[in-house]
Amino acid sequence: MTKNQVAIHDKAKSYDWDYTFGDQTPKWETKYKIPTKGRDPFRMLVRDYMKMEAEKDDRTYGFFDGLLRTGEAGRIQPRMQETMKLVLPLLTNAEFQAVAACGMIISSIKNQEMRQGYAAQMVDEMRHTQLEMALRHYYVKHSADPSGWDWGQRGLYQHPGGHVSLSLFQGFNTGDPMDNMICLNVITEIAYTNILLVATPQYAVHNGDNALATTVLSIQSDEARHMANGYGSLMNLVQEEDNIPLINTAIERFFWHSHRALDAAVGWGNEYGGVNRPWAYKDAYQEWVVDDFIGGFMDRMTEFGLRPPERLAAAVEATKWIHHTLGLVLAAAWPLNFFRSDPMGPADFEWFENHYPGWSGVYQELWEAYGSMVDPSCGHLLLQELESLPPFCQVCRLPCAMPHLGANEFRLVEVDGKQYPACSEGCEWMMRTWPNAYKDCHQFWSKYHGWDLADVILDLELIRPDGRTLMGQPSLSLDPDRLWTIDDIRRIGYEVKDPLHGVVG
Ligand code: BEZ
Ligand code: FE
Ligand code: FE
Repeated sequence: MTKNQVAIHDKAKSYDWDYTFGDQTPKWETKYKIPTKGRDPFRMLVRDYMKMEAEKDDRTYGFFDGLLRTGEAGRIQPRMQETMKLVLPLLTNAEFQAVAACGMIISSIKNQEMRQGYAAQMVDEMRHTQLEMALRHYYVKHSADPSGWDWGQRGLYQHPGGHVSLSLFQGFNTGDPMDNMICLNVITEIAYTNILLVATPQYAVHNGDNALATTVLSIQSDEARHMANGYGSLMNLVQEEDNIPLINTAIERFFWHSHRALDAAVGWGNEYGGVNRPWAYKDAYQEWVVDDFIGGFMDRMTEFGLRPPERLAAAVEATKWIHHTLGLVLAAAWPLNFFRSDPMGPADFEWFENHYPGWSGVYQELWEAYGSMVDPSCGHLLLQELESLPPFCQVCRLPCAMPHLGANEFRLVEVDGKQYPACSEGCEWMMRTWPNAYKDCHQFWSKYHGWDLADVILDLELIRPDGRTLMGQPSLSLDPDRLWTIDDIRRIGYEVKDPLHGVVG
């Protein structure tokens, strides 16, 4: 920004005035004290902002056009397309929850500087939903196997993986508007968007998907300003001493929740989708979350009384395991997926053991068993080998099999005389502290208790256009003329049993 632009910006901001009409009471109450003067971290005039964003859109959409002309879609590693069929809708949900978050924050605070920043962010988040939907549209039309790309939005509500996104990102706009800001702008955007939108594109490029890389890097160039919103808002709030314990509690809560949901989903999407792996998730986590967010950002906030999350060490330890466990559970439950679940083979085993010492002892045999059941003529599912289905955590919605099958931290939590499943100490703490945020979510298995698996698949409409072939398949290497059908599943006769039947509810 030139000196002249700074002067214009300051002058524009000086034209603020008190309203003389309407009810100016903030729409949603906050327990935080918000100073009425703060700083607008964007410091940008609407005219310049629009010009910049239009140029970024032109570049991204123009790039798509080029990709079509050169037939790039056919060069994407199919495995990565499959995990992204789940991951991208989870991300788009975050974007539209963020749009609502900005509206909620704007109508809840009497601070013109902060409002200005959130108004621009709201437009950005709309742009992100549009970019991601355009990317998904490109895949629907040009993927080698588009089945499932058109089901992802339903998957948010009807696939257990979708519930993970719903649970985390309701924190952007449900509850206290300043808690929402900490969830969105501080934890998600400052701590996590670099892993999501900078480190993930590295995987995409190594696996032939330049469309994904370009789209999410364009999105990330906006996130830098959303981080500035979070920083500006936090700097406002720390001026009031009474806010400090409230901020620390919100950081603790959303740091833990983001760790569960994002470390599991993003770690899985990359390492189990990538055939070529440029990094290990635990190292990306160390770099972006531990070194940058905790070491670079939170440490500097300690002089105002803020502190790093108490559960940081627990999150670092769990991040070595939880995405692997999620990967196995998703593969075992493959008939319920709207994407194909490729078995891991010898090259994958070697990479995982090298990067996660101890991986083989926990996971390899199960993957080998899975790999032996991919042919539809085998008439067998890994699900049949499990003692029981895993319950889903009432808070983060991950399977209660974490951190891994040999060290399951599952527990039942009693709240108001009812029992709820939780996957970890952190989720138990959240369930006890904010029961109203989580207690009314339904359990996936309870809806289908006693059903034949084939009827569950039909109920969810996880069937390809021929009316009998399943959307989910247990391998990418099957004969295209002999994929699993609903009849193969019906023949197996697997009955879904809710592991918590008679225990909760
Ligand atoms: C965003 O604010 O754009 C965002 C939120 C969650 C995940 C990724 C991005
Ligand atoms: Fe966004
Ligand atoms: Fe954002």
